[in-house]
Amino acid sequence: MKSDLQTPLDLEELAFSHISVLGREVVEGLAVRPGGHYLDVTVGGGGHSRLILEAAEDVRVTAVDQDEDALAAARKELAEFGDRIQFIYSNFADYEFPPNTFNGILADLGVSSYHLDQAERGFSFRQAANLDMRMDRGRSLTAADVINNWDEAELADIFFKYGEERLSRRIARRIVERRPLHTTTELADAIASSVPPKYRYGRIHPATRVFQALRIVVNDELKSLETFLDKAPNALVPGGRIAIISFHSLEDRPVKHGLRNSPLLKVLTKKPIIAQEEEISKNPRSRSAKLRVAERVLNIE
Ligand SMILES: C[S@@+](CC[C@H](N)C(=O)[O-])C[C@H]1O[C@@H](n2cnc3c(N)ncnc32)[C@H](O)[C@@H]1O
Repeated sequence: MKSDLQTPLDLEELAFSHISVLGREVVEGLAVRPGGHYLDVTVGGGGHSRLILEAAEDVRVTAVDQDEDALAAARKELAEFGDRIQFIYSNFADYEFPPNTFNGILADLGVSSYHLDQAERGFSFRQAANLDMRMDRGRSLTAADVINNWDEAELADIFFKYGEERLSRRIARRIVERRPLHTTTELADAIASSVPPKYRYGRIHPATRVFQALRIVVNDELKSLETFLDKAPNALVPGGRIAIISFHSLEDRPVKHGLRNSPLLKVLTKKPIIAQEEEISKNPRSRSAKLRVAERVLNIE
């Protein structure tokens, strides 16, 4: 069953929140210490990296992102830290994790408010734009390719699997009837027209789950996450920490199992850390966030 805390994000809420989620909890979870070297594999707007750099003396950060534009923005935002921060353009699944190197690793999964603010990236169904949704524009598959070329059954499958959308079949049927669809709003209208009124005017926009599914497919998000979970622990020094923030259950499940099943890690969060009421009231996006933390063990038995 899906937990209430991880209902898909309302993109409008997300678009207006530029604050890093669970900032204090991340810094505490990573136990940031003077002279430490940290890896932020999702630097995005640079908010968490800044908190890490400011948490103790002489901290260094290696910052990765698969979006060149986000990376350029972070470079500007964090310029004051000079050579204490190094930027790398890469998917975190392709990054060559150096063994035994970092005191802490952070992943804050998903899209950033930066992506949603830029209508032309095609992540938001509230603003008309081409159906793109690539975080890394060097990749070739776009949301338009999926929507206009995949079979009805394949579409229904991904909406169900990656959007946990129970009306997946009727939505896929309507999309196929209306193809070709060129824009985010055309797609959102097609989805809204295929669902019953109760659903259309519910708590979340009826396109939310389908957009989540498309984003996951276009960016191959779950496979990247699996690879990251497999490779990252070995890049920690003994006693180093890994902290991962997820925003929906399809991410949280592999995170929970990946941390628990790694012979190199001891999980420190029996239950995920979630945002306090005060943070949720300031930053609605944090309502869906779950943070899990683990520590690299000293010796493998
Ligand atoms: C939620 S935002 C991070 C926000 C950031 N923690 C902050 O405080 O500003 C997620 C970022 O991770 C990047 N990202 C998502 N999946 C990625 C992957 N597989 N490899 C590298 N970067 C990724 C996105 O491009 C986006 O910029």
